[in-house]
Amino acid sequence: MKFLSSIFTLRRLFLWGNVILLVLFIGNLIKDQKRGWQWYQKEYKRREIARLEAKIANAPSADLKDTAQQELKIAQKMPIEIRQIWSQDINTVDRCITCHVGYDPLNNSSLTTEYKDQPFSAPDNDKALEIHKAHDVEKFGCVVCHGGQGLATEVKAAHGEVEHWEKPLLKGVLLQSSCVQCHDNHGELLVKGEVYTSEILRAKKLVQEAGCIGCHQVGGEGGVISVDFKDETSNKPLSRIDFTHTGLPQDQWTLANWIKVHLTQDPARVTPGDPKAAFNTEPIAPSGMPPYLMNEKDADAITAWILGLKRTGIPPQFLTLRPAAAEPTTFASAVAQGRHVYEKNGCAACHGADARGGIRNYNSQSGVTPNLRRAVSTYTRDELREKISEGAPFIARHDPSGPQPPFYMPAWKSKIKGDEMESLITYLLSIKE
Ligand code: HEC
Ligand code: HEC
Ligand code: HEC
Ligand code: HEC
Ligand code: HEC
Repeated sequence: MKFLSSIFTLRRLFLWGNVILLVLFIGNLIKDQKRGWQWYQKEYKRREIARLEAKIANAPSADLKDTAQQELKIAQKMPIEIRQIWSQDINTVDRCITCHVGYDPLNNSSLTTEYKDQPFSAPDNDKALEIHKAHDVEKFGCVVCHGGQGLATEVKAAHGEVEHWEKPLLKGVLLQSSCVQCHDNHGELLVKGEVYTSEILRAKKLVQEAGCIGCHQVGGEGGVISVDFKDETSNKPLSRIDFTHTGLPQDQWTLANWIKVHLTQDPARVTPGDPKAAFNTEPIAPSGMPPYLMNEKDADAITAWILGLKRTGIPPQFLTLRPAAAEPTTFASAVAQGRHVYEKNGCAACHGADARGGIRNYNSQSGVTPNLRRAVSTYTRDELREKISEGAPFIARHDPSGPQPPFYMPAWKSKIKGDEMESLITYLLSIKE
């Protein structure tokens, strides 16, 4: 008796009660992680029934009570089953509505913000609601905007957070990359009177200022030193990316992050090459792409812009594209036109926006690209025309046993001619020091 009462003191009961509670709590957390789609549907059904019963009880008029009763009948009969949308024209099948049941057009479809949590709730902001309303669920499905793995019926898999799945759920700014695949050629897209794709528009400016297109192309337009953002980067399969030097943990090996690290980290670290020929027969220079070391916001915006260039195969009836803005045709002077040619062709990529050069060029004689303001003073007009037209494909190495410097001067004769070439030369001569 004494023994028992010493075990069952209130204090001990309280202590053990707490331990049991904690175990149950952790057990439930683990169970939560393993919920199948059936659980979400049953839960949605349970909530709908409770919601509609309350609505009937509180209905102010017989009419409203009637409709609520109709809705309740549908909710009670709701089968627990895999649900899917087949967007025939876009060629996607998605089962997102298996868990996000409120979006199912065949269901009661009383998608409501009364449920505060996903996957049950409608989005809680006006813009998202407006966007959902503008695109008929049955015609568009979900993955065309959100990404993810349409056919999967398990949370992580459906959201694309599994190895080898190329399209994880797009979050935040990255979601804008979907809009521009169908709308307005990366132009202004208004939702509730505001430009929704504002970050993409900002990215276009950033890219122009940085002169990315001096080295990169966009659908064939631009410099030939590196890859085409449209034809290559935005469609790059994960199997062709070497993430080892990015410092990213494996569950973040996505195309978006690959693009982003080029902007937030020094590319020479991301792609270190093999300058001492330790693994290759010929030495390979580290990436010559300049270290922009951008902030997260700018890097996210540019990443969204590049992802948005992807060739999607979405049929033309889904596209509302306006023609790109026309090139300006009149300029105040030849110098102004020349400056425009300099920017348009991305000379700034290698020679700097101010033409003072200095972008690193691994293992070249001076280690950097030339300062054009200084260089042009040694050229005549004809020599300059010749140099820009023919370029300089072979750059002398500083260390003869080291790698080929990554940057050479491209030949521009097929891209810059006549009038444009003459004003470019006039511009360069006008800034000489
Ligand atoms: C197996 C059930 C299930 C399926 C299938 C599913 N989801 Fe979800 N979804 C959830 C749950 C649970 C959450 C909330 C927790 C979370 O974000 O993981 C959620 C959250 C979301 C969110 C909000 C994310 C955020 O960070 O705010 C979006 C958007 C979303 N899902 C889209 C989709 C799309 C698109 C599909 C289809 C490709 C899909 N879901 C398929 C269960 C599912
Ligand atoms: C036309 C593009 C588009 C389509 C199609 C689309 N969505 Fe959305 N969705 C959006 C946008 C944009 C948002 C707002 C995201 C934000 O505010 O960050 C959003 C928000 C959401 C959210 C809320 C996320 C949150 O955190 O509040 C969920 C859940 C969701 N969508 C699920 C779906 C499901 C399920 C489908 C298919 C039945 C679908 N969406 C179809 C564009 C779309
Ligand atoms: C698959 C192509 C596609 C995608 C992706 C897409 N839209 Fe649309 N959108 C359309 C089409 C087509 C219409 C015209 C409505 C229709 O025919 O159903 C439309 C209509 C709209 C409308 C109604 C007003 C108007 O301009 O016609 C808005 C606003 C809109 N979309 C915004 C967005 C936003 C924001 C996104 C990205 C989150 C987006 N759309 C993604 C194809 C698309
Ligand atoms: C001076 C030339 C140069 C400039 C300017 C330049 N890059 Fe690069 N970029 C390269 C080279 C070379 C590579 C390939 C080697 C590597 O992966 O780093 C590359 C690779 C990339 C990659 C990876 C592409 C892929 O398909 O794997 C991205 C993304 C990228 N650059 C974005 C940009 C952006 C955005 C800008 C402008 C802000 C820019 N680059 C400016 C030379 C340049
Ligand atoms: C991919 C990088 C790159 C781009 C883009 C580029 N250049 Fe060059 N440019 C170089 C390199 C490297 C040299 C040095 C060549 C050498 O050492 O022989 C050079 C040399 C020159 C020279 C000769 C300078 C000297 O020191 O003799 C001129 C002039 C010139 N570039 C003009 C231009 C113009 C104009 C454009 C745009 C139409 C342009 N470059 C675009 C990399 C580039």
